[in-house]
Amino acid sequence: MSTPLRTAVVTGASQGLGRAIALRLARAGHRVVVNYLASATAAEATVSEIRTAGGAALAVRADVRDSAQVGALVAEATRVFGAPDILVHNATGPQPMKPLEHYTWTDFQDQLDFFVKAPVLLTQAALAAQKRAGWGRIILIGSEVADLGNAQFSAYVAAKAAMVGLTRAWAREFGPWQITVNLVAPGWIPVARHTGTPQAALDHYAQAVPLQRQGVPADVAGAVAFLAAEEAGFITGQCLSVNGGNTF
Ligand SMILES: NC(=O)c1ccc[n+]([C@@H]2O[C@H](COP(=O)([O-])OP(=O)(O)OC[C@H]3O[C@@H](n4cnc5c(N)ncnc54)[C@H](OP(=O)(O)O)[C@@H]3O)[C@@H](O)[C@H]2O)c1
Repeated sequence: MSTPLRTAVVTGASQGLGRAIALRLARAGHRVVVNYLASATAAEATVSEIRTAGGAALAVRADVRDSAQVGALVAEATRVFGAPDILVHNATGPQPMKPLEHYTWTDFQDQLDFFVKAPVLLTQAALAAQKRAGWGRIILIGSEVADLGNAQFSAYVAAKAAMVGLTRAWAREFGPWQITVNLVAPGWIPVARHTGTPQAALDHYAQAVPLQRQGVPADVAGAVAFLAAEEAGFITGQCLSVNGGNTF
């Protein structure tokens, strides 16, 4: 099947999983908008790596929780590359872990802002063009925690579980326009913000995983690239765990 060139927006692509997703989508031939908030140098490094490999990319700073900035992100993507056909809702802020007694409502609101508000704003900004095109790919980066229900992580877990709801509701709602909506649920995949995690904690996690190891960002990126491809056009409303079998 031939693969037309598409425009992809990956939120939070300056580092971590988002960076790997941006590189992978570019390798698949898509024009990639590398969104970031604070790490301009890292975002430009992602763009450089894509361009050096012969791909097309652009770094755009935007706080995904802010409607005006998300509108400007989509406008800039459209001006440079054409309207976004592929959205990857990936960005995350800090993820507090603590007993419920120590949470404030603001902690919950913060997680909902990243994992519900941000996908809503970006999808709203890009939806009209996808409907006109009769083609779209919306991919939410969830987490295995929605299945595991990790203790002392309830704000993050609740917001990640809400992403499953968005995936299913939007799959039905946008299906008539051939816009697919799927979620990729990574397991614990060490990235820069996990630097300093005791090796014992990493080993403890890995030994309970059927594949007996942790994944790498490229594992998640491969799943996203698959769901973004033409070949995945009859897959929607699904949650794909990329966690070595840690959940069934
Ligand atoms: N890594 C894991 O083990 C794991 C497991 C399950 C699920 N996940 C999910 O995978 C996704 C990526 O996680 P990660 O571990 O790769 O995170 P990460 O390495 O901490 O990267 C977070 C990214 O989000 C960006 N960002 C932060 N605030 C933003 C904002 N307001 N607007 C736009 N971008 C913003 C950051 O950009 P700047 O640096 O420019 O601020 C950065 O590029 C998240 O949804 C996370 O919940 C990760």
